[in-house]
Amino acid sequence: MVALSLGDAVTPDFPTLRLEGESNSDALERLRRFHAEHCPHCTRVNTHRNLVFGEGDPEASLVFVGEAPGETEDELGRPFVGRAGQKLDEMIAAMGLERDSVYIANILKARPPNNRTPLPDEVMRCGPTLLRQLAIIRPTAIVALGAPSTKFLLGTSEGITRIRGVWARLTLPEEIGGGEIEVMPTFHPAYLLRNYTVETRKAVWSDLQHVMRRLELPTPNTGG
Ligand code: URA
Repeated sequence: MVALSLGDAVTPDFPTLRLEGESNSDALERLRRFHAEHCPHCTRVNTHRNLVFGEGDPEASLVFVGEAPGETEDELGRPFVGRAGQKLDEMIAAMGLERDSVYIANILKARPPNNRTPLPDEVMRCGPTLLRQLAIIRPTAIVALGAPSTKFLLGTSEGITRIRGVWARLTLPEEIGGGEIEVMPTFHPAYLLRNYTVETRKAVWSDLQHVMRRLELPTPNTGG
């Protein structure tokens, strides 16, 4: 397990995470509306077309976290619907799950200009909303896709190649209820597509199998 510190995220004055009796779905929708109006990153970027808040089952026991919307995601306002998204869909199907039975989100909700890697201050500005999404859903496990999401969730500077495949923990800040969620870091599907070797595919499949065991899903010996 890896210890973590979330550092000093720049936070707007967020509303109550969950109103009395509010469902996950309604709490997420209220957060989405607040984010669209107040996120210090998303209200500043003006090169994107749509916000990509996240989608899936608000009660999911598994959440996948990526980096930021790409071009297709920006166009459609949905996470992981481009080429990397097709690979992620295959990964989810190989686990024996439906895409709409999990939740999928990114650290950044607005595509960075020229699709560049998110800057640390963008992550600090937009990232607190992701933590709130996770605090509302409270999944059993998170799959961190690639280095930026692993770094953000675990507060680590370790490279993804070293850290992937080993369970770690996200500790949620006290003001959103505290507690821990298990995180399995793995390669980003876009990296997998760029490095489509037996080794990389085996590594990702092995990481997903850890998750399947944690969720008590049947684990065949082949896949992805
Ligand atoms: N890459 C990401 O990290 N997120 C997406 O939504 C799409 C591509």
